Order: sequence, then structure tokens, then C-alpha cells
Amino acid sequence: MRHFLTLKDFTREELLEMIALAQKIKAQTKQKKFVPYMERQTLGMIFEKSSTRTRVSFETGIYQLGGVGLFLSANDIQLGRGEPMKDTARVISRMVDMVMIRTFEQSKLEEFAAYSKVPVINGLTDSYHPVQLMTDYLTMIEFGKAKEPVCAYVGDGNNMTHSWLMLAAKLGFELRVATPKGYACDPDIVADALEMAKESGAKISFGHDPKEAVKGCDVVTTDTWVSMGQEDEKEIRLKAFKGYMVDEAMMSLAKPDAIFLHCLPAYRGYEVSEETFEKHAEVIFTEAENRLHAQKGIMVWLDSHRK
Ligand code: CP
Ligand code: NVA
Repeated sequence: MRHFLTLKDFTREELLEMIALAQKIKAQTKQKKFVPYMERQTLGMIFEKSSTRTRVSFETGIYQLGGVGLFLSANDIQLGRGEPMKDTARVISRMVDMVMIRTFEQSKLEEFAAYSKVPVINGLTDSYHPVQLMTDYLTMIEFGKAKEPVCAYVGDGNNMTHSWLMLAAKLGFELRVATPKGYACDPDIVADALEMAKESGAKISFGHDPKEAVKGCDVVTTDTWVSMGQEDEKEIRLKAFKGYMVDEAMMSLAKPDAIFLHCLPAYRGYEVSEETFEKHAEVIFTEAENRLHAQKGIMVWLDSHRK
């Protein structure tokens, strides 16, 4: 049995298999062909943080696969009142067929997985957002940007950045990360990515100059400067990220046909300008829709790799 906790745990070939499955299932869905790959299966969805896309895409996705999703807000289940993660895992995984969790520390997700009888999917932690990156790659393929792309991530060294590092390192493409001083990526995750890059040939670089990072690239991406759980740091963060907004001046340094990706929610006037956001809305909202399709690929792949 496999869990989907970080992209690091999969080979390049496995990740591409999941993407191929997602493409197949997306095409079927568009033809209104709902193949019951996971008939009568239940997906438990535990949320310790807010969500729009993750909740709607997983719940709709499992339904389209012939199963049902159970939305379990931490505020409503005993986990929120202190029932241990390992007990929650042992109870829920005896009743459902797969679990998706959105939580804080990656170690909490790992603890759940260690005690779970069924595959567990990371629906975002403080460290990673791997289902989003599978989605972003599917979107890059659809917009013709998956062939030896040069990608630039401008902003906070957060869960999104870490998953970009993992994707680039696994698939072997170029990723330039520009973060303000003091907001760099986790050094352990950077070390892992650089180690994997040796094998894949990925070119990964880090700096503090967003303009330099974006120069001549195919894909520009960013994320909020204030992630969930960092609300208390908002004021100080907004000051630290001055000069990091992706706007038309910054996009003009990328290739003329460069795409802009954003996992959403987006905060206009901070990490992205209103103008740039709206100019790239078609790509951004296709990316949002692709959460549904990419995750169906991941769930069906995990289901078919059970022992
Ligand atoms: N991108 C993303 O994960 O969105 P939600 O927080 O709305 O799920
Ligand atoms: N970095 C953001 C991503 C939201 C989808 C957060 O963790 O809040």
C-alpha cells in the first residue's frame, strides 16, 4: 500500500503514470463518461485548516469515481477536542477506503499514515502541497509548457515552493526560486531536492532577485505571502515581501508567451497585481479545475497499488 504524503516518495515514472491517468479520466469526464473506478469506496477528508478547492475537488472527484466523500472538519470530530491522531487514524481507516488530510505539521500527517490501514493523501501541510503540484504540472502540459520548461517561483519559501522543488527535482526541469531574505525554503527540503536533482538533471537555483529569476522563463508562479497559520505575522510579512509582486513589469521579463500559475486563493495587490491575475485568468482557473482531474488520477493510482 502506498501513501501520497510528498512527491519525494515517488519515482518520475510513477508521477507520470498518475498524470497520464488524470488526463485519461479528465477526457472521459468531459465526455460525461463516469467510469466507476472506485465504486462504493469512501474517502474520509479531514480538514484542520480552511479550504475551497481541496474540499470541493476531492468530494466531487470521489463521487465521479463512483464513491462518496466524508467531510470531517477537525472542529466537528473528536480530533479537535484532543483525541490523538493515531487513534483517529485507527478508527477512521477501519471504516473508509482512503483518507485525505489537511493539517499543520507534516509529522501529524505521517503519524496518521503510520497507523492507517488505507492510503493517505496529503491535502496540504505546512511543509508540502503535493496534489497542487501534480495539478500544476497537468496544467503545464495542457498549455504546452511541460517540455524542458524554465520555471520561476517568486515569493515565500513555503509549502508550495517546497513542492515545486520536489516536482522539478523529480522530473528534471529548471526551477529558479526567489525569496526575500529570511523567508527562504526549509534547508532540509532544499538539500533533498538538490540531491534528487543530481539524478534527474534538474537545474535548481535560489536567490533574492525576482527579476533575475523570471528572466526568459516559461512559467512564472507565486503564492500568498501569509499562509494559513501565519496570520499573526501578516504585517511584518507584507513589509518583507515588498518588490515581490508579480505584475506586468515583472512578467515582461519572462518569455512573451509565458504562463502564470497560482494555486489560489490569490491576494491582489500583494503577491500578484490585479492586471496580471486577470490577464492569466484562463490558465489560473483551468489550474483550479485541474485539481479535480489530477486528484482522481492520484486516487485511482493509489487504489490500484493496494496489496
Ligand atoms: N489551492 C488550494 O489548495 O486551495 P484551497 O485552500 O481552497 O483548498
Ligand atoms: N501556502 C498557502 C497555500 C494555500 C493553498 C497556505 O498554506 O496557506
